Amino acid sequence: MSTDRLDIVRPDDWHLHLRDGEALASVIGHTARRFARAIVMPNLKPPVATVGQALAYRERILAAVPAGMTFEPLMTLYLTRQTTPEEIFAAKASGQVFAVKFYPQGATTNSAAGVSDLATVYPVLEAMEQADLPLLVHGEVTDPAVDVFDREKTFIDQHMVPLRARFPNLRVVFEHITTADAVQFVQAQDKHVAATITVHHLLLNRNALFDGGVRPHHYCAPVLKREQHRRALLAAATGGDARFFLGTDSAPHPREAKLADCGCAGIFTAHAAIELYAEAFEEAGRLDRLEGFASFHGADFYRLPRNTARMVLERRAWTVPDTVPLGSSVCVPMRAGSQVPWSIVDASAG
Ligand code: NCD
Ligand code: ZN
Repeated sequence: MSTDRLDIVRPDDWHLHLRDGEALASVIGHTARRFARAIVMPNLKPPVATVGQALAYRERILAAVPAGMTFEPLMTLYLTRQTTPEEIFAAKASGQVFAVKFYPQGATTNSAAGVSDLATVYPVLEAMEQADLPLLVHGEVTDPAVDVFDREKTFIDQHMVPLRARFPNLRVVFEHITTADAVQFVQAQDKHVAATITVHHLLLNRNALFDGGVRPHHYCAPVLKREQHRRALLAAATGGDARFFLGTDSAPHPREAKLADCGCAGIFTAHAAIELYAEAFEEAGRLDRLEGFASFHGADFYRLPRNTARMVLERRAWTVPDTVPLGSSVCVPMRAGSQVPWSIVDASAG
């Protein structure tokens, strides 16, 4: 494979925030230009908690896809204290809901409706195990006594280990992993467990939060970690292990919501996602493994057909705009005002 040109099967994004209304209309084209499908996060206000809400949201997403682009939203339900086993079986039967997302209450943006303790929803998890509907886990404890940089590791010990022991056949995606501890945990599990890795956690360590001053556009949940963790994530993503796959966690917020006394968590990467992943894989000298990570491993885990359309990337640098439109406001994208070395040549093949 030439190192200036990459010809891969069209990728999918297995963890994406699309929002709703005019924000949805602003961001969907960035993703649809790059990805054939995406697992769409349900943390709207109010949350997407029922099959009816998921199907209605799916229609709004499809209606917002720009003309000439093909994009398939893969819907999820938000696990709340009200979720019932019946809703799980209805979700599976709908054919349009592919997973259920667990947010620890208070862990991140729009997580107030989340569940504080997985043990309180065991009947729902039993139904998911039976229906073979994967559980997507935001793996951070919210205990204020636990240091924010240790919340993922503590979640593994306190919640992941008991979850696996109690529901060995429940398929689990450990979302947006950020630590070497999470990599090791996933590697030690069987085929029921996988993990998504964002591009910002592959390219940035926590120094990016304090680069000459505080950098709110690099603040996300889970927060960026030390360089040793970034290296472990890069090794996992580029290692060829099918349990690790692409999930951007692209999370658009209006600039004023980030530049506030209490700024929102979330980094927007949809405008350059696959190009930035190519940059990360190149750093590791493993451009040859981008296709598996971006286009095959996730589809295989979700038991969906792999895409057949192709996408070509080439080494041609471009400058990311300072802002991208977001409804009546703007969003500051990752790498704003700076260069990305890779460009898409032809994304219309899908
Ligand atoms: C996400 C958001 O803004 O919806 N924010 C983030 O920092 N990743 C929520 C989430 O996935 O935690
Ligand atoms: Zn997310």
